[in-house]
Amino acid sequence: MSSKRLRTFIEDNFIDKGLFIVSNREPYVHKKTVKGLKVDKPAGGLTSAMDAVLKATGGTWIAWGSGSGDKEASDEKDRVAVPPENPSYTLRRVWLSKRVSDNYYHGYSNQVLWPLCHIALDRVYFRRRFWEDYEKANHLFAAAVIEETEDDCVVWIHDYHLCLVPRILRQKKPSLTIAHFWHIPWPDWSVFRVCPQSTQILEGLLGNDIIGFQIPLFAKNFMDCVRETLDAEIDYDESTVTYRGQTTRLKAFPISIDYDRFNSTGHSEKVTGLMKKLKAKSNLPQYTGVGVDRLEYTKGLIKRLQALSLFFDKYERYRKKFTFLQITVPTRMKEPYISYQRTVEKLIEKINKKHATDDWRPIININKKLDHPELVAYYRMADIGLISSIYDGMNLVAKEYIASQADEKGVLILSEFAGAADELEGAILVNPYDIENFADSISMALKMPEEEKRERMRLLRRQVEEHDIYKWILDIFHELTIVSSVKHSQCKHLFDHGDLIRERLSRHEIFLFLDYDGTLTPIVDSPEKAALPDEIRTLLMELRERFPVAVISGRTLADVRERVGIDGLIYAGNHGAEIWDGRETFSPEFSMNADRLDDFLDSLRKALSHIQGVLIEDKGITVSIHYRNVRIKLLGEFLNIFWSIANGYKDSFRITSGKKVFEIRPLNAWNKGDAVKWIWERFGSGRLPVYIGDDTTDEDAFRVLKGRGISVCIGCSPEADYYLKSQKDVKEFLRFLLS
Ligand code: UDP
Ligand code: G6P
Repeated sequence: MSSKRLRTFIEDNFIDKGLFIVSNREPYVHKKTVKGLKVDKPAGGLTSAMDAVLKATGGTWIAWGSGSGDKEASDEKDRVAVPPENPSYTLRRVWLSKRVSDNYYHGYSNQVLWPLCHIALDRVYFRRRFWEDYEKANHLFAAAVIEETEDDCVVWIHDYHLCLVPRILRQKKPSLTIAHFWHIPWPDWSVFRVCPQSTQILEGLLGNDIIGFQIPLFAKNFMDCVRETLDAEIDYDESTVTYRGQTTRLKAFPISIDYDRFNSTGHSEKVTGLMKKLKAKSNLPQYTGVGVDRLEYTKGLIKRLQALSLFFDKYERYRKKFTFLQITVPTRMKEPYISYQRTVEKLIEKINKKHATDDWRPIININKKLDHPELVAYYRMADIGLISSIYDGMNLVAKEYIASQADEKGVLILSEFAGAADELEGAILVNPYDIENFADSISMALKMPEEEKRERMRLLRRQVEEHDIYKWILDIFHELTIVSSVKHSQCKHLFDHGDLIRERLSRHEIFLFLDYDGTLTPIVDSPEKAALPDEIRTLLMELRERFPVAVISGRTLADVRERVGIDGLIYAGNHGAEIWDGRETFSPEFSMNADRLDDFLDSLRKALSHIQGVLIEDKGITVSIHYRNVRIKLLGEFLNIFWSIANGYKDSFRITSGKKVFEIRPLNAWNKGDAVKWIWERFGSGRLPVYIGDDTTDEDAFRVLKGRGISVCIGCSPEADYYLKSQKDVKEFLRFLLS
């Protein structure tokens, strides 16, 4: 999905006040050089992933201005438009003094929280001044967020540097929707208790509405830590923590990459050319392996080198036939990283000294950050991709290696302690501490039959393609939209008000109105699969004996009657444009320009013919355009095409969007609200109307019943009185009505 299209999609469907991202590391660093200002892109999973997101969605990224030329490149409001070559979002810089950045970043973030969360406890080094400046820096970031945002905005904070920001924001601007993504592991309580400020860190994070983790285990570990530390209410089933009146939802969202970008570069001629050049330049042998890492102790580089050394000792036949290319990008260049770099370089030297020949080196160390095509060329060229993290939140390199395998030939050897191991079926998993097995795995990968390699790689590529960074964004935004709409509407959770509703129901006779798809049945891939569950059918039959029940659907009347198949109910089809009152069909009048509708549908069919998964359901009076099965990458294109055509027909039709569906209706045809009003007034106006629905077309009914009855939406709607969390809760509510 291209940036522009995704942006339109997000503006239309998700966040209308812009997106605000907050992280310590900035995506573009300006540096002063003798030749003037130079822009660098730092290496690291957070900036790689979030730059792709913001390029697509637009918005503002608030981060520490750490570059020597950052001040010069920013305007008087500390802002700069990025990416420099094609600006699409705003980078707002936060300035930190040298003392604060040393203590907050190199100190507390990198020497306390980072090793702690990666279970490298002997590397935890704590000083009180680290914490003092960590607090200070978090206040500075929060102040910048307050300055940049209006009320009701969505703020999305990243990582361990900014644990206190959520609570500060919650106190200063309670109307914000605040989310946090934790890119690294969250350790279990026996480890986290080492943190001298465990209470403050957890309290800070519990200012969030939602915290995203890479895998479910990290969310569970977080809840365990809260249980041991704070007097909070924890719901393990719902994955929520309520602390000081604030409920925080915890959920796993495994982060990913822009698969298409790596895949298409992997297929490009440029990369084929680069591969040839690199092979010739370094005189590479038959087989190569690659590792791409920040020079970071959590990446297990020592273990990897020990395993490689053992491999060359043990499997002599690969001498002169296999070279390992280690691409390392210097990172956080203070202790313990400086010593780590030295140890790694010495070990590489030692291995090379032992095994190298005049025309062959077992390990080539490339100590620089590569640009995208060069990086892909290394990935693509390598028979093996090697990830040996001792603990890792996700590890994007693993996914990038897979996406670059245009010829499906590479084998991925992946540490079982990387979050990616949870998803990447088809990789050879290793325990990096078990260097014997690790060395054997390298040999196994090299001699793996071509067919098996291909099969594994195909599986891996499908997984990454289907779960790319755009799916990740949409999943998170979906969750954010729910959180944000529940927060800002008057909508109340129905079961929290059971007593009040029971009391109201006990004083009246009821008239029950029910939507079909998404209310009586779960949402499914295609409309014809939506069958009424037996349990709901039984409940409807019992309910029918107690009070009038009407089913109000967007389907044709004939279709909904057949699907429900219960006599004695009232049915409305085509969003209320045709009604079965129990004895006969009533068709309210409307005017329809049939030729123009044909014209509209023809244009859509033609323009959308190349997009798989679009279903145009012509129901005579109304038409539904379903796009649930359109792949995420094509969604933006689909929406652009749809609206470019639909905008020309808005004068003749009412066009509304629902759950992955557009509804096209004659301008003056009855809607669900008209139908409910008519049915209610005709067959039971003394009764209390209760309406349950789930989609935007149900909002017409919610509006009609405002102040007159009880309206319930599955998921939150600003028009409904109450909400239910999911369709599964409908059964319980129907039982409640029976009781
Ligand atoms: N990276 C890069 N150029 C390099 C080395 C690394 O752009 O020369 C990028 C790499 O492509 C990946 C990120 O840095 O997107 C590293 O992310 P990962 O999740 O693997 O590890 P992290 O550094 O976040 O711990
Ligand atoms: C990991 C962390 C990020 C960090 C990156 C690079 O990916 O999760 O928050 O930005 O490493 O580290 P650095 O200290 O250079 O920002």
